[in-house]
Amino acid sequence: MRTGIVSAMPQELAAVLARLPDERRQQVAGRDFWAGHWHGHDVVAVLSRVGKVAAATTATTLIEHFGVDRIIFTGTAGGLGEGVRVGDLVLADAFMQHDMDASPLFPRFEVPLYGQSRFAVDAALSAALGRAARNAVAVPAETLGADAVAEFALDAPRVHEGLIVSGDRFVATSAESDALRAALPAALAVEMEGAAVAQVCHDYGIPFAALRTISDRADDAAHVDFMRFIDQVASRYSVAVLESYFSSL
Ligand code: ADE
Repeated sequence: MRTGIVSAMPQELAAVLARLPDERRQQVAGRDFWAGHWHGHDVVAVLSRVGKVAAATTATTLIEHFGVDRIIFTGTAGGLGEGVRVGDLVLADAFMQHDMDASPLFPRFEVPLYGQSRFAVDAALSAALGRAARNAVAVPAETLGADAVAEFALDAPRVHEGLIVSGDRFVATSAESDALRAALPAALAVEMEGAAVAQVCHDYGIPFAALRTISDRADDAAHVDFMRFIDQVASRYSVAVLESYFSSL
């Protein structure tokens, strides 16, 4: 079994690489892929790059060139669902592209020629990642450090599970996030890559699971220092969840 670990942010990838005792870099498609082991399990870690096309190329290369037979994606997302707060985690049960619209030829959001708009994650892989995520949030000060919990006022972070939507834009106005909520009321969070990776994994028939830390509410509220949040919260959650996942295999 070989697992592809896709990180959305360089800080997350750096935290992942710090856990691999033997990683070796290989460049393919202009990307750095890092093959190594985590608790003895064969892994290839890589940065997704931003947006659906870049993420699809990364996922395809992981499968075609590196022969991974499962992919786990970690990163950040904007919270859309009620009660989905900064510092919470969202485990995807399915992905949609919120900017896919080939109407009137196909229903809005449907990916043409697939006959579907939703791409489900792998239930077993996602359940295992969910268990690891719940371990990571149980005692946030242990996972993140007391300073980070205080700095970002994290109050009993939760793991939500449901629909994540992806599109090629950073959603940073209330008008836009309101429109997304109206069009896709089930969406818990928005990001820019997951639906592309889900579609690639669907095409190749390999298991996929994804976990995102909520970094913002996808609105125009002045928000915490994004880069510091990635360093202090999102990267630490990602690595703790993956650590718990690989040590449980
Ligand atoms: N990733 C993190 N926050 C996001 C947002 N508001 N929109 C799109 N992608 C994101």
